Amino acid sequence: MLNIALTKGRLEEKTVELLEKAGIACGCLVDKGRKLVVEVDGVYRFIFAKACDVVTYVERGVSDIGVVGKDTLMEMKRPVNEIAALPFGKCRFALAVLKGKKFYSGYSLKTVATKYPEVTKEYFETKDYPIEIVKIEGSVELAPILNLADGIVDIVETGSTLRENGLEVIETVAEISARLISNPVSLKTKKEEILSFCRKISVNI
Ligand code: PRP
Repeated sequence: MLNIALTKGRLEEKTVELLEKAGIACGCLVDKGRKLVVEVDGVYRFIFAKACDVVTYVERGVSDIGVVGKDTLMEMKRPVNEIAALPFGKCRFALAVLKGKKFYSGYSLKTVATKYPEVTKEYFETKDYPIEIVKIEGSVELAPILNLADGIVDIVETGSTLRENGLEVIETVAEISARLISNPVSLKTKKEEILSFCRKISVNI
């Protein structure tokens, strides 16, 4: 049995579409209701979890492989194998400010609000630009509006959340997409099952 962890929400729909195309019995994944564990044909055991928990389950080996966004992998930096980039979940990490405002101006220490403090810290370290980070759990766009921060580092997909809240991107921090990850031990002990799953979903690893 191959244990596969899927990220609930935006990526779930796209992942199930990919499985459907591969002919992996998906009716039970689409109509799973509130079920968190779904077995398919006695071959696959899918679990549905939050992105950061997908990484934890794969790292601990209770899931052999998983589907998760590169954003989560960049923030968590856990010892899992990133075995393939998937053709969905495409977006970017960007630095955004209130429209027309300058970020790199004046001598005061700039404050950046984000759900991704590690990614933000690393980005400004590579630029050798000192900032203060404020961790926010959601709707980060509020921070500059409320004058809590000079800018935000966040995920931008269509750009409409920024536009509708009077913000604009000034720099792209990193390109992101969904990734297939594996537990390093499973990659050895279940190599054939993982390869066969990847062949089915037409993903080269
Ligand atoms: C993400 C992100 C932005 C929005 C970007 O938030 O943090 O707010 O999506 O998407 P867009 O460019 O297509 O508008 P999410 O919907 O995950 O909610 P959250 O902010 O409450 O975490």
